[in-house]
Formats: sequence, C-alpha cells, structure tokens
Amino acid sequence: MKIRKATEKDVTGIAYVHINSWQSTYKGILPNQYLASLNLETRKKNWLRNLKMLHNATYVAENGEGQIIGFVAGGPEQTNDHHIQGEVYAIYLLKEYQRQGIGRKMIKTVVDELIDKEHKNLIIWALKDNPSCGFYKALGGHVIAEKTVKMAGIELIEVGYGWDDIHEILLYL
Ligand SMILES: CC(C)(COP(=O)(O)OP(=O)(O)OC[C@H]1O[C@@H](n2cnc3c(N)ncnc32)[C@H](O)[C@@H]1OP(=O)(O)O)[C@@H](O)C(=O)NCCC(=O)NCCS
Repeated sequence: MKIRKATEKDVTGIAYVHINSWQSTYKGILPNQYLASLNLETRKKNWLRNLKMLHNATYVAENGEGQIIGFVAGGPEQTNDHHIQGEVYAIYLLKEYQRQGIGRKMIKTVVDELIDKEHKNLIIWALKDNPSCGFYKALGGHVIAEKTVKMAGIELIEVGYGWDDIHEILLYL
C-alpha cells in the first residue's frame, strides 16, 4: 500500500472509489435510488476541477497492483469561519480496505501538508449517522459544530469534529 499525491490522471480512480464508498457507507442513510444514480462521468468532472485548485491537498492510496483504493482531500476551511483554518474535506476507502489502519495514514499525510501551510486548527465534517464518526473520535476529535444539510431531497445532520490545535491529532496517528 502506498500513499501519494493525486494528479489529474487519477480522476477515474478517485471518482470510482468516491461512488463505491458512498454506496456502501450511506446505504440506509441516503435513498437507494439516489445512490444507484451516482454517475462516474459527473464525479470525474468534479474531481478534475478539485485537483486544479492550488490550495487543495489531495492524496490517493494505492494497493500493490497500483489500483486506487482510497483518497483524502483537505485545504483551507470552506465557510470562511475565522476561528477555523484547516479542513479535511473528504476521506474515503473501498470497504474491503477499511479498518486496516490506512485511514490513519491518509489523515497523517494530509494533516502534515496542512501544518506545512500553517493551518493552526482543524475541522472534519461527517453525517451524524455515519459509523465512521468513531474514526474521528478515535483521533481525539470533539464535536464543535452541527448543521443541517439537504442531500438527495432529505434533511440530514452533519457534525463537525474539531481540533483546537492541529498538532493534537498527530498524537493519535
Ligand atoms: C472513515 C475511514 C476513512 C477510516 O479509515 P480506516 O482505515 O477504516 O480507519 P483505521 O483503520 O485507520 O481506524 C483507526 C481507528 O478509528 C476507529 N474507527 C475507524 N472506523 C470506525 C468505524 N466505522 N466505527 C468506529 N470506529 C472506527 C477505530 O478506533 C480504529 O482503530 P481500530 O481499528 O484499531 O479499532 C474509512 O473507514 C472509510 O472510508 N469509511 C467509509 C467512508 C466514510 O465514512 N468516510 C468519511 C466520511 S465523513
């Protein structure tokens, strides 16, 4: 397993993991019909745009055969909340690669870059019903914010896990 910086050539692999992991993670949380309709070409276009954003840090995890099995993306906090500077926007692994310590390694890679870019603190948003909230708790995160979001026509609660000092998360990685 190798973690490396993503390039524009990786859009298909990233989009595939994104859709596949959404379908397994959000089953029972988001409507089946919506999950089944997620489209690879649309996601590829979104990721191409994301990868062109210079302030963003995106990394992929590859298995021994060079297949992309996960990705993580971070950068400046997106809502211009002046108290929070850094954010991990997304972290997804294919189901068969979860709970093997790869998520920890991916977070470490992106957090190291956010620290290099002098982000002092950190937030990561997750749907409140997502079992992966356990991951952020295990990394020392505390819920510091909550908001309602509309996805696939339904209202869901998102919680923001925060670290007042971004270096604190390194103690768990
Ligand atoms: C969330 C995710 C990136 C974590 O990566 P991972 O490689 O599975 O996690 P790790 O193996 O590094 O786990 C580190 C610790 O976090 C905790 N943890 C991880 N996933 C958990 C879960 N689903 N429930 C409870 N605790 C969890 C555990 O304490 C774990 O340590 P342990 O396995 O020794 O008990 C990955 O599971 C994933 O892609 N999940 C589906 C997509 C998703 O929900 N992404 C986040 C959207 S906000």
